[in-house]
Amino acid sequence: MSQPCRVVADVLASLTEVVRAGITTKEIEAFADDRIRTLGGKSAFKGYRGYPGSICVSVNEQVVHGIPSGRRISEGDLVSVDVGVLMNGFYGDAARTLPVGIVSEDDARLLRATEEALYKGIEQAVEGNRLYDISHAIQQHVENNGFSVVRMFVGHGIGREMHEEPQIPNYGAPGQGPRLRKGMTLAIEPMVNAGTYEVKVLADKWTAVTLDGRKSAHFEHTICITEDLPRILTKYN
Ligand code: MF3
Ligand code: CO
Repeated sequence: MSQPCRVVADVLASLTEVVRAGITTKEIEAFADDRIRTLGGKSAFKGYRGYPGSICVSVNEQVVHGIPSGRRISEGDLVSVDVGVLMNGFYGDAARTLPVGIVSEDDARLLRATEEALYKGIEQAVEGNRLYDISHAIQQHVENNGFSVVRMFVGHGIGREMHEEPQIPNYGAPGQGPRLRKGMTLAIEPMVNAGTYEVKVLADKWTAVTLDGRKSAHFEHTICITEDLPRILTKYN
């Protein structure tokens, strides 16, 4: 799994240089798809349940699953890029939200809290803990910062399929859920809204947006539980 995950990490790192004011989300996708192929991988998303894009690009009030289009990025936007790769029979999946130019103080706080929440969750991914220890740590950090955790979408096990058991909600009670064991590989992915946690899916059947139109952020890593600290397979610089 380290192979597809390395490709995902490379793409997410490169995208910081690509996501700029003036570029369209389709152009962002084209860059990512090219990079994935150059590195010997294949998009895990293209054709998945009919999804038309190679990656997901979700802007501002779009929470996840934004379909690349002619939409042009502007200064101050928050751009979530979600990248999944299939390579040698295994999947890797990760996402990050990039600030475009100078963003508002509140938006910067939203990004920081979401990324921190991901790491708080990963910290709990140790042998002997229970699954919802991860969920609870994420929810607590998000809500302590005055933001809300999206309920409609969850993280997931990952391996020979992109979505495997268990589902990993970003909210829950500590000490509950299946016992975590070394060797488990999980995609942990908090989606965090500035306002209400409620989201709706647009008529394109994919794009999820916040119900109140306020902004949203998304950070995701594929990790492996070990006998020591969790290993972040999609880690980028
Ligand atoms: N990272 C997301 C996930 O875990 C995105 C996949 S949706 C797809 O499910 F349709 F684009 F594949
Ligand atoms: Co995922």
